[in-house]
Amino acid sequence: MSDSIGISLLGAGNVGSAVLDTLLADVERHNNLIGTKLKLNYVLVQDVDKHKKKSPNIHFTKDFEQIVNDPDTSIVVELIGGESPAKDYLSKLLKSGKHVVTANKDVMAKYGSELNDLAIQNNSSIKYEASVGGGIPIIGPLSRDLLANEISSISAIINGTTNYMLSLMLSEDVSYEDALEQAQKLGYAEPNPVNDVEGIDATYKLAILCGLAFHVDVDPSEIYSKGISNIELQDLKYADELGYSIKLLAKADLIGNRITCLVCPTLIPKSEPLSKVDGVLNAIQLKGNLVGQVVFEGPGAGASATSSAILGDVIDTAKNIHSSWKESSNSILNKIQINDIGDFQSRFYIRVNVIDEPGVLATIAGIMSEHSISIASVIQAASDPEKNTAQIVLITHDASQKNIDLALNTISKEKKVDKIFNLLPIVN
Ligand code: NDP
Ligand code: HSE
Repeated sequence: MSDSIGISLLGAGNVGSAVLDTLLADVERHNNLIGTKLKLNYVLVQDVDKHKKKSPNIHFTKDFEQIVNDPDTSIVVELIGGESPAKDYLSKLLKSGKHVVTANKDVMAKYGSELNDLAIQNNSSIKYEASVGGGIPIIGPLSRDLLANEISSISAIINGTTNYMLSLMLSEDVSYEDALEQAQKLGYAEPNPVNDVEGIDATYKLAILCGLAFHVDVDPSEIYSKGISNIELQDLKYADELGYSIKLLAKADLIGNRITCLVCPTLIPKSEPLSKVDGVLNAIQLKGNLVGQVVFEGPGAGASATSSAILGDVIDTAKNIHSSWKESSNSILNKIQINDIGDFQSRFYIRVNVIDEPGVLATIAGIMSEHSISIASVIQAASDPEKNTAQIVLITHDASQKNIDLALNTISKEKKVDKIFNLLPIVN
């Protein structure tokens, strides 16, 4: 029996340094769980001097080849993020027979199947629990505990940064920019925060969840996605008055052999559990034919919570190495098509600024009716007597996205319509 398992890290930023701290502090505990020691070999970073000053006893390197060619490294944890060079590094590591743990949703959403295949061909393994939902266990349950179920729907809040921002803006009257700065300071945001606020990060995570839940390969670029950068404090306040929270919701519904998939800021009734998921918390609600509805909730970002998921994968991998037990990978079973977003049916919230004159509402209602859209309620939210404009919020009955887009296109050309601020779906 070997007396230790060698581990190296790629990246020592927000998450990487939390993983390092626990690896170095909990040696005894890991030893007991695995049955042998984890030995830290190399840590790949960009700025070796900066890291060396803080932790002189760790072997930092800029040279990836040193890690991939190190015969004493069996497990590599990838925490540099982004697509390049991470994808290339992960492929090389798997080809060289190393076991890999990653938190990288960009790469897993786009190349998950390819990397899983590489792992199988090379007797290596890849684990990625931290890639969705930060500290929440979700990849494990979907790959194992829920396998007997046919999953029919996923409704999820899977971006901690935007959930934190939307909660803070409403509860503390904080501007969008200040809320983003705060999320970055807390280490929640991606190295490029545009991925968070424009819904890209959530789209990657939804693609990963769809792959596991529906046994399909979903190309993230096929998922309709809209971020929160258009959401203003006013939208959050109007929604609140109407009895809703606005959340960046990732949703996928399987009907027959088609899925409707979208990531979009969405109004959720306050009676729904997802509307109460605030701050950096994430929640993933799944419906399975056997289990019914299950909800996984917990911290969706942050160094410590994320290190929990990563180290869980590391310990599991090390135990497998130690007992030479190999797991089968997730298999792609179904051929399923993604629905056109135009077919998506929902109630909608629409905020428009109009010229405050008689007949404007009738014009808007007329155009809606021409596109088979029925209005459920209208509120005149605010008016500006100096500009002679008024802001109105319309709530529609169920309508298709296609009809709504056509109607709004016509409405936006009306002289009496000043600006359409936001169009958001409402969860039934
Ligand atoms: P950071 O930007 O804080 O850290 C990135 C680290 O990678 C740094 O140490 C950096 O080195 C190193 N690095 C970047 N590019 C290279 C390169 N080309 N070669 C060598 N080293 C490189 O990112 P995070 O820790 O926040 O995120 C890491 C991963 O974890 C990402 O995939 C992210 O999506 C994922 N994740 C993050 C969560 C969070 O809450 N932050 C939660 C869940 C997942 P240097 O320090 O020298 O600049
Ligand atoms: N930036 C991501 C988020 C990190 O805010 O959810 C966790 O994946």
